[in-house]
Amino acid sequence: MKPIEIKKDIYWVGAIDWDIRDFHGYSTYKGSTYNAYLIIDDKVTLFDTVKKGFKSDLLHRIHNIIDPRKIDYIVVNHVEMDHSGSLPEIIDLVKPEKVFCSPMGQKNLLDHFHRPDWPFQVVKSGDTINLGKLNVHFLETRMLHWPDSMFSYIPEESLLISSDAFGHHWATSERFDDEVDEPELFAHCAKYYANILLPYSPLVQKLLATVTQMGIKIDTIAPDHGVIWRTNPGKIIAAYAAWSRQLAKPKAIIVYDTMWHSTESMAKAVADGLVEEGISVKLMDLQVNHRSDVVTEMLDAKALIFGSPTLNNGMMPMLSDILCYIKGLRPTGKIGAAFGSYGWSGEAVGLINKWMEEIKIELVDPGVKVKYVPDHAGLHPCVELGRKVGKMIKDAV
Ligand code: FEO
Repeated sequence: MKPIEIKKDIYWVGAIDWDIRDFHGYSTYKGSTYNAYLIIDDKVTLFDTVKKGFKSDLLHRIHNIIDPRKIDYIVVNHVEMDHSGSLPEIIDLVKPEKVFCSPMGQKNLLDHFHRPDWPFQVVKSGDTINLGKLNVHFLETRMLHWPDSMFSYIPEESLLISSDAFGHHWATSERFDDEVDEPELFAHCAKYYANILLPYSPLVQKLLATVTQMGIKIDTIAPDHGVIWRTNPGKIIAAYAAWSRQLAKPKAIIVYDTMWHSTESMAKAVADGLVEEGISVKLMDLQVNHRSDVVTEMLDAKALIFGSPTLNNGMMPMLSDILCYIKGLRPTGKIGAAFGSYGWSGEAVGLINKWMEEIKIELVDPGVKVKYVPDHAGLHPCVELGRKVGKMIKDAV
């Protein structure tokens, strides 16, 4: 298990998780990595650790460079368990002189591991520590995406160790952005942004403005997941600027579940209406599309259209799941509509409309309901609904 030198005397010493398929509700269908970085200087410093269960991977890589017990400092940029799960065992082994973290980092580490005996040293935005030849500047990035999150910046190397920001879940043997397929890389990054960072978009914009104002030179970004940006750090920063503004394309997603294919037929008819208006459409049957892929498609869609039959006076369980998930991600600037079949009561469309009002999606139409099975005439209002949404998209985008 070889470390990878990313700059002179600065190494990637993380772990690759080829097998993870679910990350608290996010489908990591191509695995992930837990990145950690080691600086060899007068003070040997480890930035973050790895998820519990991957401690040996981390230690084997470090052993190839130096005896882990020679580590002087550990920097905790983020407390979430995928980066701190092995921290207690690493601290017990290394016995570091200091553990650096943000003020919220200390609180959260205590709440996770209950070890007040650790040699904490709290650092705030603007604080710098000297390692010998290199310095580390800290920048707190509260709520991006946890209260404890922070960046570590090495000015002598123009290196930003960025915690979760600019990362992505993708297990690869390659470690750098120029070694992997770029469209696939950006697809994973968009998915990460949509599922993890979207609710904090105003803070992302503020942070990007702060970093620009500071005028710091960044030629490499080393995130806590995925590949290291050594060739195109500007590209991922520009993508974050666009995603955080939630700029929409002339695109709609139709997200639905179906019981006996009636709502499915309606979904296809709504899609036809949108296509007639020249709108790009993605039909996303929840029985085959994971919630985290739905919200990735939502990122640049102007319209969100939901379909559900009525089940026990409510909506289908998978619709409830996706509406709950989307609500937490707080998308802005979307328009929406609903449709669905029913047998005798027909509450689903009304419930979806109510949810859209709650989360401030602009309702384009009261929605379309069809009793039991739509015939050709029954599908006509669905096509009309698609056309109506399509026209509104064209006016708005
Ligand atoms: Fe990768 Fe927020 O942990």
